[in-house]
Amino acid sequence: MERGNVPVSTVLNRNILLGVSGGIAAYKAAFIVRELVKAGCQVQVVMTPAAHDFVTPLTLATLSKRPVLTDLFERDGSGKWNDHVHLARWADLMLIAPATANTIAKMAQGICDNLLLACYQSSTCPVVIAPAMDLEMWKEVTTSTNIERLHARGVGTIGPGSGELASGLNGEGRMSEPEEILEHLRTLLVGKGPLQGRRVLISAGPTQEAIDPVRYIGNRSTGKMGFALAEEAALRGAHVQLVAGPVQLTLDRPGIVRTDVGTAEEMASACKALAKDCDVVIMSAAVADMRPKRPAKDKIKKATADLVLDLEPTEDILSSLSASRPAGQLVVGFALETTDELAHGTAKLQRKKLDLLVLNSLQDTGAGFGHDTNKVTLLAPGKDPQELPLMSKVEVARAILDRIEAQL
Ligand code: CTP
Repeated sequence: MERGNVPVSTVLNRNILLGVSGGIAAYKAAFIVRELVKAGCQVQVVMTPAAHDFVTPLTLATLSKRPVLTDLFERDGSGKWNDHVHLARWADLMLIAPATANTIAKMAQGICDNLLLACYQSSTCPVVIAPAMDLEMWKEVTTSTNIERLHARGVGTIGPGSGELASGLNGEGRMSEPEEILEHLRTLLVGKGPLQGRRVLISAGPTQEAIDPVRYIGNRSTGKMGFALAEEAALRGAHVQLVAGPVQLTLDRPGIVRTDVGTAEEMASACKALAKDCDVVIMSAAVADMRPKRPAKDKIKKATADLVLDLEPTEDILSSLSASRPAGQLVVGFALETTDELAHGTAKLQRKKLDLLVLNSLQDTGAGFGHDTNKVTLLAPGKDPQELPLMSKVEVARAILDRIEAQL
């Protein structure tokens, strides 16, 4: 999915166990695997023996970059067995596509005479099936009873759709298209929070401005606050674009697309490209205000070093984004002050025309760079300052997003 030039596909980054049962729609499993892998998922394919007649395991193994599994015990005499309990526990989600009438019936009855069914029986993660069969089979009362049973156990269904069927007949029973299945999984995995459908740009961490190829001007920001905001926004259903300076942090949540940058200039161009499609912009990065005017191409030798660095200001990204924001976009800034915090914060809120300013004071113990806690005051135009107690950065992220939600 593209909107303007900005890719908006959500990085799902999850373990998906894809069960493929034996129906003509099994050929579409190849497209499903490809789309899941493209969206950042690890895909383990488990096929029923009958599915081999419709699509080759080699195709699915190549696309998923993992061997395809079919049997509980390998038939090559190796004595190796495929641990269905382990596979089911590994999965964040099990998708069975296509799910034939036969597989659906066995699932409903608790029969587990193949690896796919054994995985289903052992699963603790969400399970979704995409039924595919001829219209009479779909309309058949035992099929609807089986589907009802599976629904009652929390199994989700995607489709089937209507259209031309393999039999040449027209009607209900056609497996949903791979894009539709993907969209469904995306909603399921990303969650339906209060920020569902909202696009949020968050910058985090420091920037590094080169003095020479070895040295740089940087700051003590670790990115923890920005990453906590990204995780919390994604948890609330937002599509998050996270632009991160050089940090040691990793993320493991669907819904976040991360762009790594090094300098203030790179951060500015990444943020500008992404901001125009966002509903909310949160600049929590500690962008360097100044950079060396002429970074040296080679390492500066101490014997020849000029002890004065010639600096120039970097672009104020927050001010640029605020000045060129699309209608209705909410812009949030951060400020780190060491003296006259409230006065400086209020002036910054007005000068940068922000909807919310998160004010940190370095004078508060446990607040600011590197800590897992933070103590902030929220400033908004025409509102009294909201002073928050010392809290974990996750709790601070929640408080900031509560305010943003109220203001959206
Ligand atoms: N910021 C930015 N681009 C910069 C510098 C800062 O977008 N080149 C953003 C930060 O991400 C933060 C806010 O501006 O959201 C506050 O930055 P700060 O350096 O505290 O404010 P300044 O306007 O630079 O004011 P001063 O340094 O004089 O306090």
